[in-house]
Amino acid sequence: MARSVNVTVTGAAGQIGYALLFRIASGQLLGQDTKVRLRLLEIPQAVKAAEGTAMELEDCAFPLLEGIDITDDAKTAFDGVNVALLVGARPRTKGMERGDLLEANGGIFKPQGEAINAGAADDVRVLVVGNPANTNALIAQQHAPDVPAERFTAMTRLDENRAYSQLANKLRVPVTEIKRLVIWGNHSATQYPDLSHAVVGDRPALELVDDQEWVENTFIPTVAKRGAAIIEARGASSAASAANAAINHIHDWVNGTAEGQWASMAVPSDGSYGVPEGLISSFPVVCKDGKYEIVQGLTVNEFSRAKIAATVAELEEERDAVRKLGLI
Ligand code: NAI
Repeated sequence: MARSVNVTVTGAAGQIGYALLFRIASGQLLGQDTKVRLRLLEIPQAVKAAEGTAMELEDCAFPLLEGIDITDDAKTAFDGVNVALLVGARPRTKGMERGDLLEANGGIFKPQGEAINAGAADDVRVLVVGNPANTNALIAQQHAPDVPAERFTAMTRLDENRAYSQLANKLRVPVTEIKRLVIWGNHSATQYPDLSHAVVGDRPALELVDDQEWVENTFIPTVAKRGAAIIEARGASSAASAANAAINHIHDWVNGTAEGQWASMAVPSDGSYGVPEGLISSFPVVCKDGKYEIVQGLTVNEFSRAKIAATVAELEEERDAVRKLGLI
């Protein structure tokens, strides 16, 4: 018999929510052997819009969708949750300083962490998508002391997918030929998309690219600034591609990464690669039996070391800022 899983999505009436919910309900998040009960969390003003999305979900008559609950109460939304997708966040508005942004998001992610702590299922897995994702995940985690710390993760899979496509275009190979491309650090412009371990077939990607200037001045900035380029072109931020990446992240975590393949996930550091313990930073991971492990023993060259140090320094600054604000 198909098992049944509670999936909570926050910010359900937003644009990522609209691109995400139908894919979850159709079985793409957890697989075709898993039924889904959806819980949608929204702010009171957006509950009606979430109800509209729920009506459309019903109208799809998805065989795996067991039910939909809509609430503006975090405790209700996370009661019994197995998979929590924290998408809703406070965007940066004009004139807003970083401290204000972190504080506004602390007001969202602190109570959500507390609600997860109070009611989540023992096997809960949390993915934070809402920005600043790594630090929002840290805030939620710090307010959920009874949940194993490693269950709180943040999304850098969209950055990884973007990097795969850029490299595939450059080398004119299908994305399926490429493996082991890594995103390190923060989901921000300081992130480090790293080609030094990537292979195309059985050949090192860097050998095939053979153009360090392209790597440094085209590939890395294109991936890191892709979000801004999408906003410029579309007049709105990435939504379907962000939803797709969230599906990829949870699917791999639950069902495992393919043989020989890695995924990039922002996870609590265990001190690997010099990243201070506890920071939620992106690493290459391998997923198996519902757990992830940071890939160990990679050689980090001088260029990579400096890039990783820069993005980790930004994460430390964000952590120190939320600490100062009393949010963790
Ligand atoms: P959106 O503005 O369309 O939707 C956000 C939704 O969250 C709104 O419906 C809002 O009412 C809701 N919300 C706000 N506070 C909430 C709370 N306390 N509880 C529940 N819901 C709440 O935004 P969109 O485009 O869906 O993006 C969502 C977030 O994802 C943003 O922070 C965005 O920056 C981030 N993002 C992250 C990416 C990543 O790769 N990590 C990629 C793309 C976007």
